[in-house]
Amino acid sequence: MPTTCTTERPAQSFAAGAQVPAELFDGLGARQATISPKFLYDALGSKLFEAICELPEYYPTRTEAGIFARHGREIAHACGSGATLIDLGAGNCAKAASLFPLLRPTQYIAVDISTEFVSESLARLRLRFPYIDMQALGLDFSSGLELPDSVRTQGRLFFYPGSSLGNFTPPEARAFLTRLRKSCGDDGALLIGIDLAKDKATLDAAYDDALGVTAAFNLNVLRHVNRLLGSDFDVRQWRHVGFYNEAAGRVEMHLEAASAQRVRWPGGGRDFAAGERIHTENSYKYRQADAIGLLEQSGFEATRVWTDAGCPFAVIHAQAIA
Ligand code: AVJ
Repeated sequence: MPTTCTTERPAQSFAAGAQVPAELFDGLGARQATISPKFLYDALGSKLFEAICELPEYYPTRTEAGIFARHGREIAHACGSGATLIDLGAGNCAKAASLFPLLRPTQYIAVDISTEFVSESLARLRLRFPYIDMQALGLDFSSGLELPDSVRTQGRLFFYPGSSLGNFTPPEARAFLTRLRKSCGDDGALLIGIDLAKDKATLDAAYDDALGVTAAFNLNVLRHVNRLLGSDFDVRQWRHVGFYNEAAGRVEMHLEAASAQRVRWPGGGRDFAAGERIHTENSYKYRQADAIGLLEQSGFEATRVWTDAGCPFAVIHAQAIA
């Protein structure tokens, strides 16, 4: 055996740690094993996602940035200035920061499941924009959106870019948006980026890139799970699978067992057959009319929609309906 030198980072990243293992146990024990995509974002996973955004195949980040660059003034006009900008899944905060000069928020709340990552990002940003009141919030907003009293209730502008809504099934998305609507008060709004359905070849390549960065991102979830659960997933025994499931209207990511194996964790374990898969992510791709319908069913009125002619993607400003 060659000597290997590995350093495991300490278990981290979940604000309310207590429920995390239960959700993981349930998913791993299910007939169709699943791991929620939120577990993709430990510190390394967040960095791998940043790398994905640089890939030529991964069009969403670039396309959305192009829409913001082309229509920034109109978008800012629709949003109004002086808002409390609440960034859901802020990550490195770069997207929101690039909009500060346009949107001119007076308060910025960076919400992310990976507290460590977002705090670091915010520390840097405070130096550049000292006049904006900034707060980092470690929160799994997929299960609740309780904001502390320090977050102003008037003039809330929720920012949910990057098509992260796609991780929810449509009914889940509706439930999530309805909760968001409640948190808007009577004058809140939402600025959201939603990826739209497009040809299979483009989508397949975007979620299974030539360099294998998406594969690393997907496989890394097993390391995160090992730390959270004390399980012994052998990453080398798993392969990345990512493809557009046209009938279901979504991209799917799975991890496929390269061989039959037993995975153990304290108090349990599971046998996987060769070729058996763990479902790790859905990324729904909407038609524009369906995306707007989803917002309307959740108590929002889509006031403006900006798209990219070459690569279907929508940035939508949606006002909370009284
Ligand atoms: C961050 C959820 C929008 O679904 O495109 C990127 C995550 N997964 N490559 C997406 C992701 C694989 C991404 N979201």
